Amino acid sequence: MKQEMMLIESQIELAPRIFELTLKGELVEQMETSGQFVHIRVPRSDLLLRRPISLAEVNHEESTCKVIYRVDGCGTRAISELVKGQEIDVLGPLGNGFTTDFVKEDDVIFVVGGGIGVPPLYELGKRLKDKKAKLVFLQGFGTKDAIFYEKEFSELGMLMIATDDGSYGYKGHTGHLIEKALKIYPNPTGVFACGPTGLLRAVEGAFSDHPHVYLSMEERMACGVGACYACVCQSKEDPTVNKKVCDEGPVFKSGEVII
Ligand code: FAD
Ligand code: FES
Repeated sequence: MKQEMMLIESQIELAPRIFELTLKGELVEQMETSGQFVHIRVPRSDLLLRRPISLAEVNHEESTCKVIYRVDGCGTRAISELVKGQEIDVLGPLGNGFTTDFVKEDDVIFVVGGGIGVPPLYELGKRLKDKKAKLVFLQGFGTKDAIFYEKEFSELGMLMIATDDGSYGYKGHTGHLIEKALKIYPNPTGVFACGPTGLLRAVEGAFSDHPHVYLSMEERMACGVGACYACVCQSKEDPTVNKKVCDEGPVFKSGEVII
């Protein structure tokens, strides 16, 4: 982990309120696992808490990484106003990412994402593709306008998209896509997911006895490094035991924590 003023190489609005930020710096050397995140300092002196944002892509040759984020509140709005050539204070990489050791060539892997939970699944997908796995991306969005990286994901594997309002792809949510994908591939070797709580519960429910299901959790964070207990969730085995999403997660094995 390192704190660095990273150079902004580009800032692009991919879809309404969805931005792709490319950063350059030495910190990239330490970005080893997909599913990790960075803690970004908001460029406003009155906003003290950093914002946790997942790594969407890492390029070690060029010392760059990309994050994709949605402008929700004042912190992400301030970040979205930065432009190429400016610098931003980044702490990272943080957290434990996705476990992919078990994946072998030709294994069928489901990668399930919802809305702004989709970004970390791109770097994950690239790494699984390097392992020659057969990838099935199942993605849910509110509406057509919120979709991003459709071409990028399609280049890595099969992509099925659902929208809540039916404006693109299947009408419905990712639970429906899982049912459809299971008809084509009834026994995926692994399942990875990132998105809202309802999506994570649907994945956990659909693959309850599966040995390789990994879920990326989101909790409000303060320190981001395991020191303040702002981000705890409960262990499923013993609900009196707390797990810190920032440093024991954000990725947990299904059944490890209460979602
Ligand atoms: P404000 O409402 O002004 O934020 C106020 C406070 O609440 C801040 O401290 C903020 O960090 C916190 N907060 C608000 N919403 C969330 C949230 N959903 N999760 C955690 N903290 C929150 N969003 C993306 O768009 N892209 C990503 O790749 C992404 N990755 C994430 C990875 C992790 C591990 C976590 C925990 C969250 C991630 N988020 C991501 C959510 C993102 O951190 C929040 O949307 C963002 O912090 C909101 O800040 P704001 O200034 O827009 O909102
Ligand atoms: Fe401080 Fe997780 S955010 S312990």
